[in-house]
Amino acid sequence: GKYRVVSTKPMPGTRWIRLLTDQDCRVEICTEKKTILSVEDILSLIGNRCDGVIGQLTEDWGEVLFSALRRAGGKAFSNMAVGYNNVVVGAANKYGIAVGNTPGVLTETTAELAASLSLAASRRIVEADQFMRAGLYDGWLPHLFVGNLLKGQTVGVIGAGRIGSAYARMMIEGFKMNLIYYDLYQATRLEKFVTGMSLLAFSIYNCISGLVSSYGEFLKANGEQPVTWKRASSMEDVLREADVISLHPVLDKTTYHLINKERLAIMKKEAILVNASRGPVIDEAALVEHLKQNPMFRVGLDVFEDEPFMKPGLADMKNAVVVPHIASASKWTREGMATLAALNVLGKIKGYPIWSDPNRIESFLDENSVPPA
Ligand code: GLV
Ligand code: GLV
Repeated sequence: GKYRVVSTKPMPGTRWIRLLTDQDCRVEICTEKKTILSVEDILSLIGNRCDGVIGQLTEDWGEVLFSALRRAGGKAFSNMAVGYNNVVVGAANKYGIAVGNTPGVLTETTAELAASLSLAASRRIVEADQFMRAGLYDGWLPHLFVGNLLKGQTVGVIGAGRIGSAYARMMIEGFKMNLIYYDLYQATRLEKFVTGMSLLAFSIYNCISGLVSSYGEFLKANGEQPVTWKRASSMEDVLREADVISLHPVLDKTTYHLINKERLAIMKKEAILVNASRGPVIDEAALVEHLKQNPMFRVGLDVFEDEPFMKPGLADMKNAVVVPHIASASKWTREGMATLAALNVLGKIKGYPIWSDPNRIESFLDENSVPPA
């Protein structure tokens, strides 16, 4: 191969390797056993000749690594993640290095995990599983592991981008929850979905009766409670009104500790909070305290403030479901992420036109592109 491309981790599937090797690249995959590579480890991987790197969200990609990559002749870096809070994009741009991420392929998988956490928390699945395994089940009881019914309750979504919108859709369609959401920007995807749903129902009912005035009436006529949705003008409105709240913002300075002691305090005492975005969006120490004070409040967490650690006390809380940052972990998605990451690097090295703007943070493919084989 003419070009040297380094991947800091083995990645699922083989398609990503084939894509690179078919196009003049020699692929080197780091085999280091430890999970989190240090800056020094990565510097030695880059060495003195490296055209592009595929890296992971556990790594600090800033000034030191990007300047080293530049000196090694590098042109491209791709995170194998949609989030890129571990990347100092300004530093990459300064050295003329393009940055890629892997949006799109993980939207549904991540939303499904957020939905799983919502259900696990509302129905106390993990507590109940531990109870069974501990041999404590000695017969059915009316009050054993009573949880919350989702149907007819309100789901709150904070951050209505690709993932938040897919999650909202699942909770509305799957569980007939009402929706309240908050986003700084116009939530085009979500709005298209909710208005599409309304118009469809409206027209079906109109055909049947010619009498309907709302989707709510349509549902009532069919013996269903109406599903409602609204965009909140403040995040506090979502926190106050929702029974289940899922966080889907990007992590940056403005969303660091978005959920803090004060905001936890305005949530319902029996609310469920789900986070499959980034850990520092929640003040985790304040959350542990809140879980202690409010035994009916439950959380489902995929991410943590200081991964791989949990704040003291969190592991002891029965009202918390915790999983190790696995929201994008389906086979299809992980192979897709690897493929996109490889195409990002390859695209830049080969000078494909999509990369004409070197400052662009974007995947080589977008979510409408052909899914990985
Ligand atoms: C995973 O956390 C990602 O950002 O893809
Ligand atoms: C519970 O198992 C029931 O039959 O109600």
